[in-house]
Amino acid sequence: MGTVILGTGSCLPDKIVTNDDIAKIVDTSDEWIRTRTGIRTRRVCGQDEQTYNLATRAARRAIAAAGIGVEEIGLIVVATISSHTLMPSSACLVQKELGATKAFAYDINAACSGFLFGIDLAHKYVQADHGMKVLVVGAENLSSRLNWSDRNTCILFGDGAGAAVVGYRDGASGYLGANLRSDGSLWELLYMYAPKSSNPDITHEDHPGTYIIMEGKEVFKHAVKAMEDAIHGVLAREGIGLDAVKLLVPHQANIRILNKLAERLQMPADDVVINVSEYGNTSAASIPIALDEAVRAGRIQEGDVILLCSFGGGFTWGATLIKW
Ligand code: UT7
Repeated sequence: MGTVILGTGSCLPDKIVTNDDIAKIVDTSDEWIRTRTGIRTRRVCGQDEQTYNLATRAARRAIAAAGIGVEEIGLIVVATISSHTLMPSSACLVQKELGATKAFAYDINAACSGFLFGIDLAHKYVQADHGMKVLVVGAENLSSRLNWSDRNTCILFGDGAGAAVVGYRDGASGYLGANLRSDGSLWELLYMYAPKSSNPDITHEDHPGTYIIMEGKEVFKHAVKAMEDAIHGVLAREGIGLDAVKLLVPHQANIRILNKLAERLQMPADDVVINVSEYGNTSAASIPIALDEAVRAGRIQEGDVILLCSFGGGFTWGATLIKW
């Protein structure tokens, strides 16, 4: 199809928060968090670190890896649920920081599936205009959107950003296809309200705050099944068997979800990229961070078929197949 990922990059804040640190704030323990989620640490933004700062640093690395100049970028898409500003978009702030004056820029919100939805969008732009180069970033500052007295959620999430430059190369296989899905009817299992309304007629007395709220057990069950179905769907559509897949790069929410998914797919654990123990769940940033780490570690070589898969609030989910 010709759509290729020209380069990847990622950025994590320096500040490390351990499970023991969180056990000083809420009634939990390192043992509970490790056994139920696989998470040991997460990165958290420090003073003057916002979503767009992480996004810009990840973007600079992706642009350098792609070997292009910022002036070649035609579009910047940032997938996020934790933008520092609702307006302007994080993408506009990234554009300013990069000095990418030729690019137009906007954010998308598909929660943890944001990067996959963004890459699909980039694919469509570069297919329509082969000269187009799209910077897709997944970036989150979720520590600013957590209720730090809710042990059901505050132990799970972290901050970070990952980016990819998408372009067109004649004759390359590249982006093979995606199976992207949403089901808004289940939104109440995982959501975050916008800030409280300032219109007195529609003020919500029991507004729970602009925090992530989740029915973890229900989300867990849906996540495994949905990602498994999405993967089988995209493979069947493209006529590719799972045995041809070199590496699975899944959204990092919980080690038990990833182990269950690998078990159902009968994939060896070594063929699945896992970094949830270090970073927790970074929503839209989790797949591009894992992808960038896999690329830089040499786990993905030219010609390898890789699968990306996600599940998150909305619900949104999907699977994407790329020949590197
Ligand atoms: O990125 C979007 C997708 N998100 C996900 O995929 C997350 C999916 N869900 C999960 O990862 C898991 O459901 C959780 C890690 C959130 C929770 O694990 P669980 O095994 O489903 O636990 P649970 O919610 O059923 O809670 C079991 C027990 C409860 O106590 P009782 O009622 O059995 O006495 C909870 O109150 O564990 C308790 N609990 C905790 N205990 C210590 C819940 N959170 C904690 C905690 N520390 N942090």
